[in-house]
Amino acid sequence: MSAGFEPTPLPDVEARLGDRALFPELVPWAYLNHSAISPLSSAARVCLEQAAGLTAREGLGGFPPLNAQRKRLKQTLAALIGGQAEDIALVPGTGAALGAIAACMPWKPGDRIILFEGEFPANVTPWLQATKAFGVEPVFLPIADFGRPDGPDFDRLDAALADGARLLAISAVQFQTGLQVPLAEIGRRCRAHGCELAVDAIQAVGAVPIDVDAMGIDYLAAGGHKWLMGPQGAGFAWARPEKAAALVPRVAGWMSHVSPVDFLIAPGMLRYDKPLRTRLDFLEGSAPNGLGYAALEGAVHCIAQIGVAAIFEHIQRWHDAVDGPMVERGFRSRRAPDAARRSGVLTWTPPKDLLAANISLALGRRGVACSTPEGLLRFAPHWPNALGEVPLVLGAVDEALAELRG
Ligand SMILES: Cc1ncc(COP(=O)(O)O)c(C=O)c1O
Repeated sequence: MSAGFEPTPLPDVEARLGDRALFPELVPWAYLNHSAISPLSSAARVCLEQAAGLTAREGLGGFPPLNAQRKRLKQTLAALIGGQAEDIALVPGTGAALGAIAACMPWKPGDRIILFEGEFPANVTPWLQATKAFGVEPVFLPIADFGRPDGPDFDRLDAALADGARLLAISAVQFQTGLQVPLAEIGRRCRAHGCELAVDAIQAVGAVPIDVDAMGIDYLAAGGHKWLMGPQGAGFAWARPEKAAALVPRVAGWMSHVSPVDFLIAPGMLRYDKPLRTRLDFLEGSAPNGLGYAALEGAVHCIAQIGVAAIFEHIQRWHDAVDGPMVERGFRSRRAPDAARRSGVLTWTPPKDLLAANISLALGRRGVACSTPEGLLRFAPHWPNALGEVPLVLGAVDEALAELRG
């Protein structure tokens, strides 16, 4: 569709670790909510405005360059997870993609799915719907098995896999504790038992290295508005090509066909029996969110410029600086003792006399933006956060505690 069309240009920006020059309008001086909703950088805005301008000027004429732009975006996204661009589908978000995959699985009655207690619902609800629709049985295991202080405990998982399971669904990084689950070990165990692995990677991709082959992942989905720093409503999914080909395209739309728009150009091409694409991009069944993906490309361009490994190290240094002093102030750290189990998310159980929600509000009044999943205080910095913020954030914490304790 984009043959012969140049994609819109990439933004002319230089993203640098610890430098928020690309966020000139951002109000909180310490923005620690990348695990919730990232602010848009000027790189993302330039791309968004470029796409909006193109559509304003040309309407339909803007479609081919934006289509070419999405193809380039898929290459960048694929590189972030060690996959191929042809196996990427651009989707609204994590839940939408996992819901579509769950609806399209070639389930057999009696199949079992392994799910985890304590997971974010985006990777539970779609599978539970499948259990109702297709006579599949859910098996819940505690996610806490992978976050034990002495290391992950695989006993319950091994037993569940030995009983037989069609699929295991898990998040790469847990939204409330920041635990990076041992995906490579989980993937190896799944493979050994012929169980497929579906990963919600929204809390990882962009800040935590992910490799679909090394981790044995079969399906992956991630919204774009957290660690990829794009807008809401523009995410991506990936599936191993043989797994995508085995899906039953129950959610196909008119753009899921091979050469979906040819009938809009030439006569005699309007047919309903044209084959559907057999890679995961059959999920792209409607006219796409061109503006959203343009913005996502601007955001991801910055991440690719710096590199995920460097971003991960930078975030760990930020966390290293803040964690000990928070513990000294009476917070109980939920950070994994093993560095391999850490991520961009760092949380604490607050001191007994205080609620995390009130601490977060008091920090917000002081220009520190953070969040409180399940009553934990969560700091989630990203590449623009400077290490020099940490003492100032700790000063704001001291003020907030003093205010709340009267
Ligand atoms: C682990 C996890 N999965 C999924 C989501 C959201 O997914 P979606 O892209 O469907 O909004 C969140 C946070 O909002 C999350 O923390």
